[in-house]
Amino acid sequence: MPTVLVTGASRGLGREFVRQYAAAGWQVIACARNPDTMGDLASDSTVLQKLDLLDPATITALANALVDRPIDILLNNAGTMGSQSFAKHGLNVQRFGQSDYADWEHLFQVNVLGPMRMAEAFVEHVAASKRKVIVTLTSMVGSMATNAAGGLYAYRSSKAAANAIMKSMSIDLAARGIIATPIHPGWAKTEMGGPNAPLNPVDAVAGVRRVIDGLTPEKAGRFWQFDGTEMPW
Ligand SMILES: NC(=O)c1ccc[n+]([C@@H]2O[C@H](COP(=O)([O-])OP(=O)(O)OC[C@H]3O[C@@H](n4cnc5c(N)ncnc54)[C@H](OP(=O)(O)O)[C@@H]3O)[C@@H](O)[C@H]2O)c1
Repeated sequence: MPTVLVTGASRGLGREFVRQYAAAGWQVIACARNPDTMGDLASDSTVLQKLDLLDPATITALANALVDRPIDILLNNAGTMGSQSFAKHGLNVQRFGQSDYADWEHLFQVNVLGPMRMAEAFVEHVAASKRKVIVTLTSMVGSMATNAAGGLYAYRSSKAAANAIMKSMSIDLAARGIIATPIHPGWAKTEMGGPNAPLNPVDAVAGVRRVIDGLTPEKAGRFWQFDGTEMPW
């Protein structure tokens, strides 16, 4: 059975990825800051692991604990908008003149350095697998081409930066047969997406899984959406 490692498995899309991959017969490594609170997710096919992207030692410890374990899909799902909630205020957050720089740095630690640290720590596990995929969930708000609303400086810039690292990774790891790419999961009803989102997590995750299933080397390093269409950078 193939193996997927999911970060941010405690709630939202991450939790749904764990549910769907496990139901499809995959071996799932479900990572979260507080795995003790997620006992209901554990099963014969799903192991819970502690991982905090703000604590690099937990990343190294997990990579070492799983040495020689092939990981078919490294799914960098965990992410944050910081202290200003899109769910409550929509795009009217992180406006010009209101920057909270400590919050912004925190966001970069989680959304950009987090996926990078994960990829560097787990590249051998992925290279040893059959499917060899590294995906980071970014966001359409990281697209320059579609930014018509302005604002949202911290989150937008973190997701644009995450797109940039996935692009470089797709080039650097191609020779090892690894397919690296960013995917926008759609606007989905989670704590981050809020109640007005048009998609439910079940459909958003099913869409992302379909996109991942269809990845080929030619599709690496491009900006995919959950419905299989390509988004301009
Ligand atoms: N929902 C949307 O509409 C939407 C749209 C575009 C992109 N995305 C992206 O999709 C991904 C999942 O979003 P979501 O809607 O499921 O968000 P969510 O409901 O807010 O869940 C975020 C997850 O990330 C985890 N996380 C936060 N900081 C972490 C850290 N330092 N270390 C490890 N895990 C951490 C959270 O864990 P805790 O429970 O411990 O806080 C939680 O499991 C994110 O990358 C997000 O940016 C979402």
